[in-house]
Amino acid sequence: MLLDDLNERVSVCKLCDLCKERTNAVPGAGNENSDVMFIGEGPGKNEDLQGLPFVGAAGKFLDKMLNSIGMERKDIYIANVVKCRPPSNRDPLPAEVKACWPYLEEQIKLIKPRLIVTLGKHSMQRFLPDLKISEAHGEARVADGIWQKKQVFLPLYHPAAALYNPASRDVHFEDFKKIPLTLNNLKEYATP
Ligand code: URA
Ligand code: SF4
Repeated sequence: MLLDDLNERVSVCKLCDLCKERTNAVPGAGNENSDVMFIGEGPGKNEDLQGLPFVGAAGKFLDKMLNSIGMERKDIYIANVVKCRPPSNRDPLPAEVKACWPYLEEQIKLIKPRLIVTLGKHSMQRFLPDLKISEAHGEARVADGIWQKKQVFLPLYHPAAALYNPASRDVHFEDFKKIPLTLNNLKEYATP
């Protein structure tokens, strides 16, 4: 596997203090040949225990949304901005995000996604720092890329938000429909 070596390095990484309280690092999982890469924020409790991304309640809801557009986990690759769980699920500190960033860059360069779906505000702001998630969610856009000059991004709300606010579930499902639409229209956006 293309990513084996990176996954090994992440699993023993000590570049920031998040290594101290982790059970397992969570490098990422899925189909490394996929055209679509999802990027979440960071592992939670279940992810830390299993070493896999989005295996808790937010992950179950993510699966439902994927199924609603005819996709499954094996069709996409998922990684997070930070690979180790922040204690009590606090937001990662800027220094932690910075320390972990080269791994995400390397993943993007290996996977070469044609579409990057960011999940939540923090993931979006790594790539699209000037946007507000309340305005930007569900709208694909082109911005500077990592493996190609220009990259198509689709910022979405974090699936955990639907668990805190069940009234927002419909918005999540509506936004997800933009994934196949954007993939079908990539030519209109992308200028590699
Ligand atoms: N939330 C995230 O952002 N990432 C995970 O892997 C799990 C929950
Ligand atoms: Fe290393 Fe990233 Fe884990 Fe920090 S969060 S220890 S940089 S893998």
